[in-house]
Amino acid sequence: MNLDAYRIADEPYYRPVGNEIELFAAAYSDRLPVMLKGPTGCGKTRFVEHMAWKLGRALITVACHEDMTASDLAGRFLLAPEGTVWHDGPLTMAVRQGAICYLDEIVEARQDTTVVIHPLTDARRILPLDKKNELVPAHPDFALTISYNPGYQSAVKDLKESTKQRFVAIEFSYPDAATEAAIVVREAGVDEKTASLLVAIGERSRNLRGHGLEEGASTRMLIHAGRLVAAGVDIRSATQSSIVLPITDDLEMRDALTGAVAACLP
Ligand SMILES: Nc1ncnc2c1ncn2[C@@H]1O[C@H](COP(=O)(O)OP(=O)(O)O)[C@@H](O)[C@H]1O
Ligand SMILES: [Mg+2]
Repeated sequence: MNLDAYRIADEPYYRPVGNEIELFAAAYSDRLPVMLKGPTGCGKTRFVEHMAWKLGRALITVACHEDMTASDLAGRFLLAPEGTVWHDGPLTMAVRQGAICYLDEIVEARQDTTVVIHPLTDARRILPLDKKNELVPAHPDFALTISYNPGYQSAVKDLKESTKQRFVAIEFSYPDAATEAAIVVREAGVDEKTASLLVAIGERSRNLRGHGLEEGASTRMLIHAGRLVAAGVDIRSATQSSIVLPITDDLEMRDALTGAVAACLP
């Protein structure tokens, strides 16, 4: 399998919020592993796509989940007519061929799975394939990026200290109002006035964090609301469907949010 399918031809739109582009580029130039830290829907995935494009590297993304095993990352022997044949997993492909491997939501994976990345993230830069009895040295272009949402942190779902300390972290949070409005205009195709209204609603919802809401409305949600508006839905229904209803199942919280939204609307 070659990497062509993982190359990004067109520039993914990404609007910088701070010095994250320079930081990532500097980390990549030294092949330091990077951790993108921040709440869901604030641009981490878009950012790594943009950076892979900018650096001219293929990007292999793995959505981590709790049933994921080390073999899902590294690879496994599969039965074929000619006998058992080894298939590289996504991580091994990236390591061998020199892609950026992005492990999205790494805390979802069990800790015994995440330790396979350890020998890749220190000076050794090797991936041991125990089942195949092979040590794969990392291609010079290979780099590892993970994403991590500290909001979901709990005793069971946290990164091992020995894993965390291997990464350079770049913090992501919601952009400032003007930047976020520009993103909503561009991604949802609404006018600036609508985008600013949606951003104001987003900010209100974020203030309810810790008062019954686990997380406020993400940039992604504001874009969804904007898309509904662009498709002809009135802004009240659009925000109800793309922000209020998805974000909480609690009826009181729902009323509080609906009230907060109404207060922002003309
Ligand atoms: N800084 C940004 N520049 C451009 N688009 C952004 C930015 N931040 C968020 N977005 C938009 O928000 C959506 C969700 O972001 P995403 O990268 O998927 O979030 P995350 O990976 O952090 O959950 C993206 O598809 C993109 O449309
Ligand atoms: Mg993501």
